[in-house]
Amino acid sequence: PKDKPLLDISLLQKQPNLPAQFVWPREDLAFAQEELHDPPVDLKGFFDGDQEATDLAARQIRDACLKHGFFQIINHGVDASAINAINRHMEVFFNLHVTKKMALLRKSGDLFGYSGAHADRFSSKLPWKETFSFIYEHADGPGHDVVDYIVSGLGQDFEEAGRVYQKYCEEMKKLSLVIMELLAISLGVERLHFREFFEDGSSIMRLNNYPPCKEAGLTLGTGPHCDPSSLTILHQDNVGGLEIFLDDKWIAIPPLPNSFVVNIGDTFMALSNGKYKSCLHRAVVNTETVRRSFAFFMNPREDKTVRPPTDLVRRQGGRQYPDFTWSDLREFTQNHYRADANTLHKFV
Ligand code: SIN
Ligand code: FE2
Repeated sequence: PKDKPLLDISLLQKQPNLPAQFVWPREDLAFAQEELHDPPVDLKGFFDGDQEATDLAARQIRDACLKHGFFQIINHGVDASAINAINRHMEVFFNLHVTKKMALLRKSGDLFGYSGAHADRFSSKLPWKETFSFIYEHADGPGHDVVDYIVSGLGQDFEEAGRVYQKYCEEMKKLSLVIMELLAISLGVERLHFREFFEDGSSIMRLNNYPPCKEAGLTLGTGPHCDPSSLTILHQDNVGGLEIFLDDKWIAIPPLPNSFVVNIGDTFMALSNGKYKSCLHRAVVNTETVRRSFAFFMNPREDKTVRPPTDLVRRQGGRQYPDFTWSDLREFTQNHYRADANTLHKFV
């Protein structure tokens, strides 16, 4: 695929009218009228080794994942200062002049780099946002050190930012593995099964900046998609805008202080033998306030076979999906964007 021209969203913001490429079809623009009100999953009991509280958390996760695959977590052990530090560095980064950000321009086919308002694989319409992504290898892989990557593109002044991102990724890896343990309990499989599977994974961190838009009602910040990853841990600020598609309508996931939004991606849907849902979701924008979010996408090592645990398959009486690797799925996803369906269904 050919790279699309980069549009400078900070300039577009000042234009009186929304450029046509950003105007989404009317049927995509029915905004959520309701909010999801599932109680958050409290991880305190798990960290304290409290069996009863751990079982309750696993049951809540199971209920959410059978329905739509989204849940919010509290008492997750990540310090507010780590979140604040990311927000500070994000603000500096996104306020850089576009030519500076271009030094790390994301090339088509790459999972890392800066991307201004250009269409991604999800849609032919342009999303009202800019993003900056980088790769984080769970087991120190060569060539993907977060600090090196940031400094290589932005210079030594950004070393501190690189360290903040790197440290946050380390915390996200730990937290993802905790959630993997809870997912295993919730599915009734050996407790460390998924933890061990993801120990040497290769994750992606993505920072999202959604400037206010004068005609917010005509556009979307992130178009409808399912995450191809295994697990996504998202931090959204208090502005709100994340929506999931459930029972034929869009439902908002309201911001909750000191929480993360966790969701199951296509790869974990396959690992759960289709039991847990990878749900369609999107982000809307508003006329007044910039919205920022950042996501950690946990993935297995590229060449590892994605296959559900045998006892789960036995209980369910057969496989839902054939074996694949994360690199197979990634390659497929890049060439087959889908606006309204789970890629996994087309892939297998
Ligand atoms: C995404 O799902 O890619 C973005 C979600 C968000 O910004 O809330
Ligand atoms: Fe997503």
